[in-house]
Amino acid sequence: MSQRTPIFAANWKMQKTAGQAEAFVEAFLPLVADAEVDIVLAPPFTALDRAGRALGGSRVVLAAQNVNPEEKGAFTGEIAPAMLVDLGCRYAIVGHSERRALYGESSELVARKAAALLAADLLPIVCVGETLEEHEAGRTLDVVGNQLDESLAQVPEARAAEVVVAYEPVWAIGTGKTATPEIAQGVHRSIREWLCNRFGEAGQAIRLQYGGSVKPENVAELMAQTDIDGALVGGASLEPDRFAKIVHFDRA
Ligand code: 13P
Repeated sequence: MSQRTPIFAANWKMQKTAGQAEAFVEAFLPLVADAEVDIVLAPPFTALDRAGRALGGSRVVLAAQNVNPEEKGAFTGEIAPAMLVDLGCRYAIVGHSERRALYGESSELVARKAAALLAADLLPIVCVGETLEEHEAGRTLDVVGNQLDESLAQVPEARAAEVVVAYEPVWAIGTGKTATPEIAQGVHRSIREWLCNRFGEAGQAIRLQYGGSVKPENVAELMAQTDIDGALVGGASLEPDRFAKIVHFDRA
């Protein structure tokens, strides 16, 4: 682990109604009251308001799972950055592999989303990661390097430290297969080098999350790696006690 403040984010994907999100928050907050890390919850859009009210002024903050880069207009079904600010969001996830694979999002679009978030004073969690096929073909660093080139193309150097990058190997998402800590660290180190080449000193401040089957049982060994500063958690973030155990990784 590094000097960077760890950041754990719960990506609930298309799970939890507003009422279920509120119940989660009520059970979760007491479990993390003394945590000294950054904690982020990303419920579906429809639960942001209720979850945000339940969070109140706690240190746990809200994120959206997606955003549209435009300010407003005829974009049926889409949500603009200012609408997320209005609901108390602090972060938004962009470029998740499910959005890239299932909804055809390009890195160019992800770049526009990241820029729009920064312009609205929201912090982007930019996801990158290779598929199983790319992994097995030994193309991980090429694929991730290209995604970084394109997805962070519009981030100005002065704002770089506000960005969080999440490395999520697609083959490890929801499969129970985690990249070994050594594999994850290897990719994170390359991402760190890329960030330092691109953003200079600010590259050292950017927090890198690992995502893909993170759970209470494997989080400590991942967090022990130099360039892993936190986790983006799907399945294991749906239950308050499991996500709280991840947040308290250092007490295992
Ligand atoms: P799982 O933790 O369920 O593998 O999901 C990871 C993920 O996609 C988080 O964004």
